[in-house]
Amino acid sequence: QAIDDPNTATAEFVVVANRLPVDVVREADGSLTWNEAPGGLVTALKPILRARHGAWVGWPGAADIGDEPFAGDDMTLVPVRLSAAEIAEYYEGFSNASLWPLYHDVIVKPEYHREWWNSYVAVNRRFAERAAAIAAPGATVWVQDYQLQLVPRMLRMLRPDVHIGFFLHIPFPPVELFMQMPWRTEIIEGILGADLVGFHLPGGAQNFLYLAKRLIGYPTSRGNVGTRTKFGVVSVGFRSVRVGAFPISIDSAELDKLARTAQTRAQARALRNDLGGPQRIMLGVDRLDYTKGIDVRLHAIHELYDEGRLDPEHDVFVQLATPSRERVESYKVMRNDIERQVGRINGEYGRVGRPAVHYIHRPVPRTELISFYSAADVMLVTPLRDGMNLVAKEYLACRPDGGGALVLSEFTGAAAELRQAYLCNPHDLESVKNAIDEAVHQDRDDGRRRVRAMRRQVLQYDVDLWARSFLETLAGHIGVVEGPEGR
Ligand code: ADP
Ligand code: F6P
Repeated sequence: QAIDDPNTATAEFVVVANRLPVDVVREADGSLTWNEAPGGLVTALKPILRARHGAWVGWPGAADIGDEPFAGDDMTLVPVRLSAAEIAEYYEGFSNASLWPLYHDVIVKPEYHREWWNSYVAVNRRFAERAAAIAAPGATVWVQDYQLQLVPRMLRMLRPDVHIGFFLHIPFPPVELFMQMPWRTEIIEGILGADLVGFHLPGGAQNFLYLAKRLIGYPTSRGNVGTRTKFGVVSVGFRSVRVGAFPISIDSAELDKLARTAQTRAQARALRNDLGGPQRIMLGVDRLDYTKGIDVRLHAIHELYDEGRLDPEHDVFVQLATPSRERVESYKVMRNDIERQVGRINGEYGRVGRPAVHYIHRPVPRTELISFYSAADVMLVTPLRDGMNLVAKEYLACRPDGGGALVLSEFTGAAAELRQAYLCNPHDLESVKNAIDEAVHQDRDDGRRRVRAMRRQVLQYDVDLWARSFLETLAGHIGVVEGPEGR
């Protein structure tokens, strides 16, 4: 499909996210090309982007590249250029060493530096300006996540005619923690520039409503927020901002289809063989992040081996860990800690050609990942805090055979939907050990009942439903109480 001149305000639907859905490739001659990187979000939004002259505003992922918009397959891509200093201050600093730990229960201590904040403000303004330049009159603009919380308000000032949605992909913390933030008022006011603010869970929405009222004094609705229903309202002057819960999901039908292919099943069998034909494969799949509780599950596995509740002759654990935010200090510390733990377990329980823990610190291609999910008897998802956790849902989508078992932390958004998992408290080592033990030794029929029930949930509530429910709610807002700018 032809894309209109990307320098004019023609996009009726604009996504604004920290990252563009592309991988930048530097060719041998030094020139840059782009490969589209298919993620759940972009897959879900593609039909809308295609139908509505869509544009995606985002950072290409490396320093000092990208100015001119260019045509992607189904949308205009609008790269936002960041300098090396901005990557250090806006992305690694304020986004990932201030906001990320603050919003994840201060698992590590957040750092607050005014230079980081100044950079966050400047970069958010750049994103808002790029979005304002490409959005058609009356367009819908959907701003994503914690890196861009100031964009809704900035964009509203630049373009009062557009409809603005904001979705937070990570947890929104309780007021007692949020109050640490030196720029707390600016952040809440920034988000309130949107017409609709979405969280994964009703709890996050309630936390936000409470802050809007107590911190800034805006009148808010009283009743409880529901999931995809019963929205809260904040009255910001003459405008009403709606606040709701929209748990994100995955393209479950696609994964289900791929998992059913003969190729996947053959690859899963080959994997088990390569692992030495163990009776039970336990699997972890995460970005290497301290929120994911990789250390907790390694600790639990170590003690289960010590106690003879797992057997290195029959059980094996595979941890796939994608490198992430590697220049942030807390990530370096955590990586050392995890790699030391893996070494210790293998030193005690591995033998030649048969480690007890396999650890792969590289991203794994999609098809290989699906084979891992298909082969795993027990999936270990043990975050200390996670907004949703898509890995848990991907695992279930990849089990059309009804096999496998899911150990799931209560501190994930997914736990609100996947009640038949082996739920555990990651702060309580015994609880994690018992959940792993139960899952590894589950009754086969009981296991199938659990997986089937959870698969129904994951297949029904997919990422398409997530996007539609958010955007339809946002569209429903149009024509409600209008602001003084008189849209
Ligand atoms: P987060 O957004 O915090 O990274 P999620 O679990 O919600 O956590 O999403 C992670 C995504 O990254 C999933 O789609 C998952 O398949 C992918 N992923 C995680 N680890 C790996 C890995 N080692 N190799 C390939 N993909 C991975
Ligand atoms: O879900 C949280 C999130 O930060 C997303 O915004 C992002 O796509 C993903 O985790 C990976 O993080 P990063 O973009 O910092 O590599």
